[in-house]
Amino acid sequence: MSIKDKLPSLLGFGTAPLGNMFRNIPEAEALATVDAAWAHGIRYFDTAPFYGAGLAEIRLGAALAKHRRDDYVLSPKVDRLVLDETEETTTRDLGDKGGLFEFGRPNKLVNDYSADATLRSIEDSLKRLKTDSLDIVWVHDIAQDFYGDEWLAQFEIARKGAFRVLTRLREEGVIKAWGFGVNRVEPCELTLDLSEAKPDGFLLAGRYTLLDHERALQRLMPAAAKQNVDIVVGGPYSSGILAGGTHFEYQKASPEIIAKVERIKAVAQRHQVSIKAAALQFSLANPAVAAVIPGASRPERIAEDQAALAAVLPAAFWDEMREQKLVAADAPVPMGRKEK
Ligand SMILES: NC(=O)c1ccc[n+]([C@@H]2O[C@H](COP(=O)([O-])OP(=O)(O)OC[C@H]3O[C@@H](n4cnc5c(N)ncnc54)[C@H](OP(=O)(O)O)[C@@H]3O)[C@@H](O)[C@H]2O)c1
Repeated sequence: MSIKDKLPSLLGFGTAPLGNMFRNIPEAEALATVDAAWAHGIRYFDTAPFYGAGLAEIRLGAALAKHRRDDYVLSPKVDRLVLDETEETTTRDLGDKGGLFEFGRPNKLVNDYSADATLRSIEDSLKRLKTDSLDIVWVHDIAQDFYGDEWLAQFEIARKGAFRVLTRLREEGVIKAWGFGVNRVEPCELTLDLSEAKPDGFLLAGRYTLLDHERALQRLMPAAAKQNVDIVVGGPYSSGILAGGTHFEYQKASPEIIAKVERIKAVAQRHQVSIKAAALQFSLANPAVAAVIPGASRPERIAEDQAALAAVLPAAFWDEMREQKLVAADAPVPMGRKEK
């Protein structure tokens, strides 16, 4: 059930920012960012109806329309249905991610993981993406951060609805793979325990980063590897703070997080390492990880991501990160350059 062989490379592109996640992004800048990703050889694009209530999908579809469909991999999500009716974007109930996508489209979003809604969500995504096929489909955000204690009830709806529909579509060859796209490890662990649901992979966001990896490292990664279920790491920069931005978990970073990032930066500076390279390469170093998909809303970020991936980091940097307990002692790290 691996998805490693379905992904073209280790580096993909995440389009959440293109849904006007933190700011009102000019159309030309959004399209130029996708073009930059393409020009740098990126051929895997992740998106979702939730990202700006269809805006990221519409922009991605417009930018990719000039390319042959066989030349790239798409992973949208089934999550919220995007209605024609509008709503106030600032007061949507988004759990602990309030205010996210307030600059996105004002279309009303309806959460529904039933079988019918799953099929409708896929049809709507195909239209917005201007394509006739999808490759990987993630069931989006069934977790504590959006549903609190209700997440298990939503999971149960998805188990009888979305999971079965996606399994059938995979068996029929309509899609190549499916799994979860979440910011929490628990839904992935629970799915691995089910005998009936056989996902191919998980898009795990923010939980296998330099700032937060303990639980996934100890529990999810070994269990997923045992079942040949691959992990795609989303949010490798913890939504920005690890790349020079100001956000952590999609909110302004707290003083505690800023202090921890400063400690990492100090180690990085001593070894002349870019923190962006350390963050991206750390997420990829675990053997359960199939790809990493940083997001961006500016074209120049793509070259930065490529440079971050290509950088050779000294082994002494990782040694000091371990000594200072800034990464778990048993976390795999990239094979570092040995000092002379
Ligand atoms: N539940 C899920 O399934 C889920 C959840 C989260 C994420 N994801 C996926 O994972 C992808 C990646 O996550 P993400 O986009 O949320 O976060 P991320 O990749 O951790 O960070 C992206 C942010 O970093 C900022 N950044 C990059 N380089 C920077 C620099 N040099 N200076 C300042 N800021 C910089 C970008 O800013 P700019 O916008 O200014 O370029 C962007 O906003 C998403 O796009 C989505 O596809 C999925």
